[in-house]
Amino acid sequence: MYLFICLGSEVMNKENIKVLISKEELHERIKILAQQISNDYKGRDLVIISILKGGAYFAIDLSKEITECDVIMDFMKVSSYGNAMVSSGDVKFILDLSVDIKDRDVLIVEDIIDSGRTLAFLSEYLKKKEPSSLKICTLLDKKERREIDVSVDYCGFLIEDKFVLGYGLDYFDKFRNLDYIAYVEEEK
Ligand code: IMP
Ligand code: MG
Repeated sequence: MYLFICLGSEVMNKENIKVLISKEELHERIKILAQQISNDYKGRDLVIISILKGGAYFAIDLSKEITECDVIMDFMKVSSYGNAMVSSGDVKFILDLSVDIKDRDVLIVEDIIDSGRTLAFLSEYLKKKEPSSLKICTLLDKKERREIDVSVDYCGFLIEDKFVLGYGLDYFDKFRNLDYIAYVEEEK
């Protein structure tokens, strides 16, 4: 067991939290992603849909580095995990869009893709609103865990199958405010 976490409670041994991706590495990679996005959407308006809560930390930092197009930020909230560490498979819809995306370029910005259920659900939902384009940007991708195929257009880091925390990612709604991505070291 690499996690010292009591499922069903909120206990975590903080000494076991280790850096997986540092603040500096995050910043460098986000700048590169933002440059790619700037080039791809140059001179156009871009609606960024940030997925609350986790994706907001990344989406806001990413948007600040996008220079060549006008960004319209919006937020959606879905829940697929509740407070557990494995996907329930259920995606619940909590907060809808506040802008009209018909005939607009739309980029979904998410913190992590795991099973793919959340983004598959959101993509289908958003496609029905007839955007002129719909792409996906994720900071982290646990590709080996995919259950539903999702086409990822921009990815910060491919990571192995570990539960990660920080920079938006939570455990029982905590640890989002770490300025790096962490993992929980195996108990020896
Ligand atoms: P999916 O629907 O299985 O792709 O899961 C996506 C969502 O699960 C993300 O938006 C996260 O909120 C959550 N999630 C997946 N893996 C992790 C993790 O390692 N740490 C924290 N949250 C995670
Ligand atoms: Mg989340």
